[in-house]
Amino acid sequence: MFKTRSKHRKRKQTLKNNQYLNHLVKLYPHTQYDSYSGQHPVYNTTYGEMNYHGMNSMFSNLQDHNVKQCKTFMDLGCGRGSICLYMASKPNIKNSIGVELVKERLDDAIQLKNNLGKNNYTSKIQFHNDDIIQFLDNQDIHPHPHLVWISNLLFGDEVTNQVYNKLIDKLPNQSIICSSRQPSEYDTSKCQQIKNFEVPMSWTNSSPVYSYQIVK
Ligand SMILES: C[S@@+](CC[C@H](N)C(=O)[O-])C[C@H]1O[C@@H](n2cnc3c(N)ncnc32)[C@H](O)[C@@H]1O
Repeated sequence: MFKTRSKHRKRKQTLKNNQYLNHLVKLYPHTQYDSYSGQHPVYNTTYGEMNYHGMNSMFSNLQDHNVKQCKTFMDLGCGRGSICLYMASKPNIKNSIGVELVKERLDDAIQLKNNLGKNNYTSKIQFHNDDIIQFLDNQDIHPHPHLVWISNLLFGDEVTNQVYNKLIDKLPNQSIICSSRQPSEYDTSKCQQIKNFEVPMSWTNSSPVYSYQIVK
């Protein structure tokens, strides 16, 4: 028993925050476009990414709304996973979850996580090759506030509303949802718009982000 534990400890490194982030930025310095878009019968899978600076900007824009109490981060449509890997470096984030429909992109995300090695940050990350809607239907949600990012500019109204309504139904109170497109129909008695701001994305230096908080 003792031997197994000490072996395990050796395999998982404890890194300082800046060591982990330097390694991530070295392995994945900036957005990479890909050729996996294809034609999905239901969803638009065009690719683009938020960069690391964008994520910091989102985080600081939400400081006044207790973003630091959010313990789980979810990127719904996470692509190559760089934002999930980055968010795992935040001390308040205990779980960083990415969901992506395109298998090749999710495979790249898993490869990047593996290349970062087993450490105190990568152990927080889970990637799922799934459709967001099915994932939300099947996933057990932790009982603490979540921070959710959806890069849904091309999702369309119907899918956006469906994702928002599932999130409003399932997420604990005080959770924050951010997206690049607003829902047109949602339950305003359980979810309030809190702040609009702009962040740099791979296709423009200032893309709008709409943020909402669950108030149940
Ligand atoms: C614009 S990219 C955003 C990547 C990443 N979230 C970011 O901000 O850097 C949107 C991603 O959502 C994925 N996607 C679209 N519809 C989806 C669905 N229903 N379920 C899971 N992923 C989906 C696409 O394949 C694409 O990789």
